[in-house]
Amino acid sequence: MNIIKVKNDAEVGIEAAKIIINKVNTQHNITLGLATGSTPLSTYKNLIKNYQDKKVSFSDVKTFNLDEYKGLDGNHDQSYRYFMDHNFFNHIDIKKENTKVPSGIDTLHPEKYDELIAQNGGIDLQLLGIGINGHIGFNEPGASFDSLTSVVDLTPLTIEANARFFASKNDVPTQAVSMGLKTIMQAKSILLLAIGENKAEAVSHLVNGQISQEWPCTILQNHPNVTIIIDEAAASKL
Ligand code: GLP
Repeated sequence: MNIIKVKNDAEVGIEAAKIIINKVNTQHNITLGLATGSTPLSTYKNLIKNYQDKKVSFSDVKTFNLDEYKGLDGNHDQSYRYFMDHNFFNHIDIKKENTKVPSGIDTLHPEKYDELIAQNGGIDLQLLGIGINGHIGFNEPGASFDSLTSVVDLTPLTIEANARFFASKNDVPTQAVSMGLKTIMQAKSILLLAIGENKAEAVSHLVNGQISQEWPCTILQNHPNVTIIIDEAAASKL
């Protein structure tokens, strides 16, 4: 695991954008796996800035997002489709049809998402955040290491952590559609970002913990090409 330690959120965004831009500029027709949450916001900001400065183009890039809340359609301002459009896609030259986010409404055959990823030749670079409890995507503690995209239950801790984006805790969906741990592990390379002290314990498990379903992030120790970019606070328990 390649660990890049930087000072703060702003520097995480700069370093992550550099890695992504390098990939996009050197590999034609690249497929990116993308993440939501507060963590990748500074990365998307930097990618947009580099696009505006004509340092990168996303015109032949394809993307697959990790997850979506079950029950929210793409027009809901807390859906991950809305998040991606407003924080990234609407500001770059990506073709809208090349951006995929799991449907939170049509959830009958979530495994079709894996088929779509495979048809596109797989994910070249998967961007990840991490939950306080070590979840990646929405794969909560106990999730099978063999899981593909499916409908999953959110833990009370995750619902509470994400309540800050909703009017009240009761408005947070209790389920999501998420790429599985196996789906994530099939990506050719992984770039995980973590910011803030509340992620320090999860980061310590990610890097030094025993591999176990109790800390889903530990599965990444088995992946041959993982880079993590963490700020000082997230690195404080290493
Ligand atoms: C959410 C998302 C994850 C994200 C994580 C951390 O629940 N499903 O993909 O990595 O929680 O979010 P944040 O970056 O806001 O701390």
